[in-house]
Amino acid sequence: RNTFVVLDHKTGMVIAIRQGSPLVAGHSKKGIFLASDTLPLLKNVDHIVYVDDDQLVEVRGTDLSIYSAKSGKKLKVKKHKLSQKIEKIDRDGFPHFMIKEIFEQQHTVLEAASYSEGEFTDLIKKIKKSKKVYTIGAGTAAFAAGQIARFLRNVGIDAQELRSYESENYLPLISKKDLVIAVSQSGETADTLEVIEVLKNKEVEIASIVNMIGSTLTRSSDYPFFSRSGPEICVASTKAYTSQIVWGYVLSKTIDGKFNEAQKVIAKLSKDLKKYFADKKHQTVLKKLAKKLVKQDHVFVLGKNQHFYTALEGALKIKEITYKHFEGFSAGELKHGVIALIEKGTPVIGVVGGTKQEQNDVLSSLIEVKARKAKVIGIADKTNEFFDIHLYSPDGGELDAVAKVVPFQLLSYYLAIELKNDPDKPRNLAKSVTVK
Ligand code: AGP
Repeated sequence: RNTFVVLDHKTGMVIAIRQGSPLVAGHSKKGIFLASDTLPLLKNVDHIVYVDDDQLVEVRGTDLSIYSAKSGKKLKVKKHKLSQKIEKIDRDGFPHFMIKEIFEQQHTVLEAASYSEGEFTDLIKKIKKSKKVYTIGAGTAAFAAGQIARFLRNVGIDAQELRSYESENYLPLISKKDLVIAVSQSGETADTLEVIEVLKNKEVEIASIVNMIGSTLTRSSDYPFFSRSGPEICVASTKAYTSQIVWGYVLSKTIDGKFNEAQKVIAKLSKDLKKYFADKKHQTVLKKLAKKLVKQDHVFVLGKNQHFYTALEGALKIKEITYKHFEGFSAGELKHGVIALIEKGTPVIGVVGGTKQEQNDVLSSLIEVKARKAKVIGIADKTNEFFDIHLYSPDGGELDAVAKVVPFQLLSYYLAIELKNDPDKPRNLAKSVTVK
């Protein structure tokens, strides 16, 4: 499974053939460009041609032709105009895309929710008649898939989250009576696409929440939705993750007949995030903590229920761009092994949010580690006598998963800066993981 591009030096002709890995062609006065997705082409092209598997692209000068690789038949070239919005990519005065994208979340949460109630009708009909709904994604998108499945279960839908790379065992159980919701920023992740292909061959219908317009996943979906967060350039996903969560929330509340209530929660969240980003003191606390963490090799992150995924995502964000070992756990796991790792001065971050019970569960784990002289860092809307350091984050209510992940995103950014890493381009990682 590969995509090949071949240049004939003598004639200057370029031939590309797609089989498994993504391929798009961009068109403009400047010429024809080939890439694995639209993102790197945005600055140079005004039209995009999406290439499907088993198609061959022939580029002669400024002429582009597409053929079926199987029959050799010439196919119609469909050019898609790029929207104005997607064309604008700059740092907007921020030193890095990552920090710009983190700050953008005060607006992107609203964009992700900017669907009308009616736009969910077909998907909801399908969800209601499905035996089971599976949500699936990879990496950060897998954690968003976890949050979306949780929202669906909250409104009585039998939903199960899967990780693309650990779903083989489930595939024989999924039939056309079920629905699969695929979550992806790029819509080009090989692990996710491979599963979707298997399921489509079994006639399973696919819904998707994708950030990149025209992606392979979107084109393979029966119910395609966009997270509408605008191009995400930084390799570490921030605004796409929170947008996917918001979309899942609106979907579940609409199933429950509470579309308007959801919009109010999101409007409040956007306002609270705006206030949070505007108040420099929160950033000062995080920058100070980043300076302290430079010397630490291991940090543990505890969460519960919605914040179990926040703990996983928060730790992943920090690993990705700081190369430090942060590990996320369910607070409940502590006594089953993790506590053996705690020693004097070990930093432990607890995500204290959600229901009273969930908060108490995390707090009691923090008390346990504090008794073993750990350094307790609490992410919460209110401070607590057990916190050595309090990282404020507004109460996001049912969307607390969005509010509480933001301090992790900022901490990872400030820590990367302290360590002199490039937060936008972490080592060994690619924005779109198009091969397994
Ligand atoms: C996120 O910060 C990571 N770069 C990575 O885990 C990513 O979420 C994963 O590769 C899936 O990508 P996708 O959302 O484009 O499918």
